[in-house]
Amino acid sequence: MTQRSSRPRSAGYEAAPNIALVKYWGMRDERLVLPNNSSLSMTVSRLRTRTWVRFDPSLPSDRLWLNDRPAEPGPLQGVVDFLNLVREEAGISLFAEVRSLNNFPTASGLASSASGFAALAGAASAAAGLHLSPRELSRLARRGSGSASRSIFGGFVEWQAGHRTDGQDSYARPVLSPDHWPDLRDVVVLVADAPEKSVRSARAMQDTVRTSPYYAERLRTVPGRLAAIRSALRTRSSDRFLDLLIEECDDFRRVCETTVPSLDYLTTTSRAVLAAVLDLNREARHPIAGYTHDAGAHVHVFTFHRHVPIVRARLQRIPGVADTRVLSPGPAARPIRRGAA
Ligand code: DP6
Repeated sequence: MTQRSSRPRSAGYEAAPNIALVKYWGMRDERLVLPNNSSLSMTVSRLRTRTWVRFDPSLPSDRLWLNDRPAEPGPLQGVVDFLNLVREEAGISLFAEVRSLNNFPTASGLASSASGFAALAGAASAAAGLHLSPRELSRLARRGSGSASRSIFGGFVEWQAGHRTDGQDSYARPVLSPDHWPDLRDVVVLVADAPEKSVRSARAMQDTVRTSPYYAERLRTVPGRLAAIRSALRTRSSDRFLDLLIEECDDFRRVCETTVPSLDYLTTTSRAVLAAVLDLNREARHPIAGYTHDAGAHVHVFTFHRHVPIVRARLQRIPGVADTRVLSPGPAARPIRRGAA
């Protein structure tokens, strides 16, 4: 059914990035974005994407503004493909203007595709007149970027891989609230030598699936590690949580580095950050910090409120560290009130 509305319909939605504690890496269905393994993340505080969508009968094509600039063809195509899904679901054929603002650097390794597609899912579905539950929004956001399925929820979030071929059981759900572990901190270490992210993770991960000799082993070990990390979070077992975080990150990096051609996301500075975390733990004689990183050079150093000064001071001394930002578990995605631009 194609329904033409004579007046523009608009809506705004905001969402925060998330950092994967257990990574999604590899898909069983690329079109539906169905992962090979379940993943677990923390949605962060302070950072957010705000997106407004307006379906307008007077528009000759879709338009996208990213941080007040017309978007490049690559990101525009991703948004057009996503809007096509929403149009199909809502039975409309209008083009849309999309305006998206990040309060953090885009493509800096701070997961702007996760917050971006989560906010777009919320804004586009509402503007199209669809009334989706958070679970339905998570399924929809997944189609834009797998990690976006998790940014619909706040706190600690699990995206269950699911088994169905139609993807209906592949969505995220909140497992622990943002205030579950109030003194947990994510010190984001921004490195000056980070290159611009060139290849989307969705493409890079399929190279790993095809070529890394360790990928099959990773798939066997991830479910056990995910359950262990979930349990360490639930019981607030800090030593165990930090050890497991490092173990998972090292495993993820191993399959990336053994991909052909090799996926080497870290720079000299990022590697010095990982080494400094291990040194700090050795000196303290127990884990006070743990690291993780996604498909980029910036590093997320997890620690606790009381250790932030010592951890931060050590990391900021490393040549090539441009900045650090201290984040906490953050909120779920939500609509933006009308008038709040
Ligand atoms: C390493 O779902 O963000 O961050 O949008 O194509 O870049 P693209 O893919 P995306 O890939 C996430 C990969 C990861 C791990 C994770 O977030 O679980």
